Amino acid sequence: MTVRLTYFGHATMLITVESTRILVDPFLAPHNPATQVTAEEVDVDYILQTHGHADHIADTVALAKRTGAVVICSAEIAGWLGKHGVSNAHGMNIGGARSFPFGRVKMTIAHHSGALPDGSNGGNPAGFLLHLNSGHDIYISGDTALTYDMRLIGEAGGVDLALLCIGDNYTMGPEDAVTAAQFVQAKHVVPVHFNTWPVIAQDGRAFAETLRRSAEIECTVMAPGDVLEI
Ligand code: NI
Ligand code: MN
Repeated sequence: MTVRLTYFGHATMLITVESTRILVDPFLAPHNPATQVTAEEVDVDYILQTHGHADHIADTVALAKRTGAVVICSAEIAGWLGKHGVSNAHGMNIGGARSFPFGRVKMTIAHHSGALPDGSNGGNPAGFLLHLNSGHDIYISGDTALTYDMRLIGEAGGVDLALLCIGDNYTMGPEDAVTAAQFVQAKHVVPVHFNTWPVIAQDGRAFAETLRRSAEIECTVMAPGDVLEI
């Protein structure tokens, strides 16, 4: 069984497994300069919300309201979404895991900050570790620094695919992301959270080449609109 990834630029990725559509960090047009696709044009069943910054949550309320998607997020963001009319938020916290119809979701450590766009407390920022029913294990770093805790994911057996931020400035940059890929023992990496604005401009191809050459890890650099099947 394949997993289909559709990239909307920045850190917004649609993961389709069987007929279930899971969107990571809804940030779409016109908020996201990397895509023309609006929240009106995307249909989803689940939303994985890593943290509350606008470049991850700008379209979550509208999308969740229109589609009825379940938003998997911190307990604090779940409460905030409830106040904004989203009835289907599922709050979790770091280290916790839960089974959903598409597979098991664990909320992982991210070293970052997590305020919501209106200044509300969004709780701790997070990443996600997915054990999909298709048999694929996927790590979504979220916005984070490189952390030694990532080694725990590698020691537990590694992942088939890691979505890693490489933009630098606000998150880990390419050099640290190479180490992160090794720590989580990723077989395949897709870089995210770069080139959206000049402050996070990075050479994705150079990152991919370094990963292949120095770590023997496969890397696919996706442009907005690209689809990848694993
Ligand atoms: Ni952030
Ligand atoms: Mn961000």
